[in-house]
Amino acid sequence: MIETLCIQGGTRLRGEVSVSGGKNAAVAIIPAAVLADSPSTIENLPDIDDVYCLRDMLKWLGADVEFKDGVMYIDPRGITKDNPPVDLVSKMRASYYLVPVLLGRLGSANVPMPGGCNIGKRPIDYTIKGLTSLGVDVDLAGDVISARVTDNFKGTEIFLDFPSVGATINTMLAAVCAEGNTTIHNAAREPHIVDTANFLSSMGAWVKGAGTDVIRIRGGRPLHGSNYAVIPDQIETGTLMIAAAATHGDVTIHGAIPTHMESLTAKLLEMGVHVTDSDDLIRVRSEGILRPISVKTQVYPGFPTDLQQPMTAMLATVAGESSVNETVFESRFKYVEELKRMGADIDVDNRIARIHGVKRLTASSITATDLRAGAAMIVASLIAEGESSIRGIHYILRGYERIDEKLRLLGADVRRRLVDENMFPNV
Ligand code: UD1
Repeated sequence: MIETLCIQGGTRLRGEVSVSGGKNAAVAIIPAAVLADSPSTIENLPDIDDVYCLRDMLKWLGADVEFKDGVMYIDPRGITKDNPPVDLVSKMRASYYLVPVLLGRLGSANVPMPGGCNIGKRPIDYTIKGLTSLGVDVDLAGDVISARVTDNFKGTEIFLDFPSVGATINTMLAAVCAEGNTTIHNAAREPHIVDTANFLSSMGAWVKGAGTDVIRIRGGRPLHGSNYAVIPDQIETGTLMIAAAATHGDVTIHGAIPTHMESLTAKLLEMGVHVTDSDDLIRVRSEGILRPISVKTQVYPGFPTDLQQPMTAMLATVAGESSVNETVFESRFKYVEELKRMGADIDVDNRIARIHGVKRLTASSITATDLRAGAAMIVASLIAEGESSIRGIHYILRGYERIDEKLRLLGADVRRRLVDENMFPNV
C-alpha cells in the first residue's frame, strides 16, 4: 500500500487561504546562516520536507539547529565536518548551497552531487566556473564536489553564461567570504535571489544590485547571526491562483507579493480570468469561458518554469489551441503523459506543447513524477470528473506545505489515502 492524494474533481474553489514561506528562498537562506559567527533565527519557513532535510544536514555537520512552528534557530559555531551525507544531499538540488558556505566557514567542502527533480540535465558548470574564478580549487572525482579555498581566494568579475538561480546563489555566497570586490554579471533576478541577498546584508555583508542582472559584493566582512523572515512562496501562490482559475472559483490569497506574480497575472487576464490585488492580497475569480493562450517560460520576470506544469493542466480544458514553450529546462513535459491518460489532447514536440482543449478530463490513477508535475496532477484532478488518486506525494510534500489542508479549506474534496500500488500503471 502507498500513500496517495485522492481528489474528487468538480468543486469550484472558494474562500480564503494563506501562502507559506518561500521554498526556494528558504533553501538558500538556511545554508547562508552557516556563515555567521553567532546564531540566526529564520522565520516564516515552510513546513516542507526540503526544510527538514536541510535541518538534518546542518545538524549532521555539527550545527545546533531547532525547527518548530516555521522558525529555525541555527547556531553554526559547532560545525566541524565538511562532508554532508549522500542520502540527505541526494534528496534536493539546493544541497549544493552548502559548498560555498562550508568554504567560507571551514575553507573546504566535500559535498556529493546534488539531487532534485528529474527535469532534464542539471549540470553545475556555471557554479564551478564562478567558484573557480574566485580562487577555489574544485574537483569532481567520484561524484563529490571537493572544493578548497586557495591563497587566491579573492573577489573578481564573473560573467554567467546564463542567469542561473543556483549559480548566482552559490557565487554570491562564496563572494561574500572572498576578500575584495566581486561583480556577478548576467545574474538571475528571481525573488529568492533578492531575499538571500537581503539576508546576507542583514548579517553584515555588502551586497548591492540583487534583483537586477548585475550584483556587486564587497567580500570579507565579518558576518553575524540575524533574525530574518523569508518571503512568501511565489510558486505556491501561482499554483493556488491557477487552481482557483481552473476550477472557475473565487479565491483570495493572503500573504502574497503581487509584484512577484505579474507574469502569471498577465496570462490569466489574457484568458479572461479576473485578478485583482492590494497590499498582500490577490483575488482570483473565474467565470464563463476562458480563452486559450501561448506561454513561454523564461527567467524572472518572465513566466516561471515552475508554473508551466499546473498551467498546462489548466489549459487542457480551455477550448481552442494553447501552446506552452519550455525554454529553461530541456525535459519538463514528462507529466503530459499522465494528463493524456485523463483525456487531455496534448502534442509535445521537443520543448513545445500544443494543447487542444477538451471538454472534460476524466479522473484516473496518476503519478507525480516530480514536485511541479505534482502541482499539475493536483490541478488536473480538481477539474476532472470523478475521483483521482495521485501517487508520488513525497515529491509534492517537498515543496507545498499542507497542500491538502489548504485545498480543503477552499472547499475541495481532498484526502490522503493508502491504496494498492498495483492500481497505477507503470510510468
Ligand atoms: C532553481 C529553482 C527551480 C527552478 C529553477 C529555474 C531552487 C532550489 N530551484 O533551480 O525551482 O525551476 O531555478 O527558475 O531555487 N544550468 C546549466 N549549468 C549550471 C546551472 C544551470 O547549464 O551550472 C542550466 C540548467 O540545466 C537549466 C537552466 O540553466 O536548464 C536553469 O537552471 P537554474 O536557474 O540553475 O535552476 P536551479 O538553480 O537548478
